[in-house]
Amino acid sequence: MPGRTTEDAAAVSHVFPIGSRLGEAGRLEVGGCDVVELAREFGTPAYVYAEDDIRTRARAFMDAFRARTEHFEVVYASKAFPCTAVFQLLAAEGISADVASGGELYLALRGGVPPERCYFHGNNKTEDELRFAVEQGIGHIVVDSFDEIERLERIAPGQRILLRVTPGIEADTHEKIQTGQVDSKFGFQIDDLPRALDRIKTLELRGLHAHIGSQIFDLDPLERIAAVLSELGDYPLLNLGGGLAIAYTRDQHPPEIEDYVEALLSQAPDGVTVLCEPGRSLVGNAGVTLYTVGTVKEVPGVRTYVAVDGGMSDNPRPMLYGARYEAELADRFGGDTACRIVGMHCESGDILVPEARLADPKPGDVLVIPATGAYSHAMASNYNAVRRPPVIFCSEGNARVVVRRETYEDLALRDV
Ligand code: LLP
Repeated sequence: MPGRTTEDAAAVSHVFPIGSRLGEAGRLEVGGCDVVELAREFGTPAYVYAEDDIRTRARAFMDAFRARTEHFEVVYASKAFPCTAVFQLLAAEGISADVASGGELYLALRGGVPPERCYFHGNNKTEDELRFAVEQGIGHIVVDSFDEIERLERIAPGQRILLRVTPGIEADTHEKIQTGQVDSKFGFQIDDLPRALDRIKTLELRGLHAHIGSQIFDLDPLERIAAVLSELGDYPLLNLGGGLAIAYTRDQHPPEIEDYVEALLSQAPDGVTVLCEPGRSLVGNAGVTLYTVGTVKEVPGVRTYVAVDGGMSDNPRPMLYGARYEAELADRFGGDTACRIVGMHCESGDILVPEARLADPKPGDVLVIPATGAYSHAMASNYNAVRRPPVIFCSEGNARVVVRRETYEDLALRDV
């Protein structure tokens, strides 16, 4: 169905960044910028974000908490998209940072997140990383194991900590991103908690943490975390982790942020400060990836392969988790040509969207995959020595490069 116009609002589904529309010529606009123009100016592949989308979702979290309690902290799970510019944007909205490595902490601090508003996670933080965090004045370290208690008592007596527990709540999501079950590399088993408390000498234990998994649609298990944690003792802080799902495809309808916050708070005891750690739900729908179609190969009676100039190096999620995405041509939404969108890597498994429908794709077309704002840039690689794409922030029709494209020289930068 080529040639859809602005009137057809449904063409730009809720999977695209807030404020996206089809402009005059039926071309997609993100953050007020025509993405065909962006592709021309900045090249492809490119990650394009609508800044206002992130801001709107950040405010939705903050407002939902504020309307219900004074005792809360929204902590951005920066693994979803660790980037100086997004830390800056979120810090300005009063959002803290969950960091899971020395590198994420470095970027968070660079982006202006105050160190006391950083929470350091991980099942195997190195001694170097712990020392770096303590030197920087990190607020809380989320302690994950007996070994780590011992390590921190030695190198950072008096440090403020949370203990991560596996609450035994199973969330219905892909097994690779489930973490709340007992058979997990993360955190303390509930039964081990008394022993952990015994080992703590000087560390200042402020509360408990649990994260049960990611891309969770059902609020029920998320609601139960606070109940389980609050039965384990009285603490000033309860950190309930992340996990709220987003829509990758138009048939998906995740809960509203407000309902999620309501669920988190519903089982939390009065007076306790409740923290949550949204990653994907803050940035996932804010970003799209732009590609250029290079070759179109018809296998008669089988299918049409549409190859783009990126693939598993800029988005490994389809291969890792069987993640499903939508795809559209930037200037002709809709269409009925059944195709398989593949990348340029030397692997048959380099499939971005197995079954897409496009409007008669041709070499040179700009192809858009929405909902790539979380865990794409974050998990990108240089496979086949490709140069990783730039990150472009768009707002009110202005585009700025916040992470530049890698160069060939970058690829040799660490050669000795
Ligand atoms: N807090 C902790 C301690 C976490 O481990 C995670 C995610 C989050 C918060 C944020 O979860 P979110 O709100 O984004 O669901 N690479 C996978 C996702 C792995 C998530 C790991 N931890 C993916 O692409 O789906």
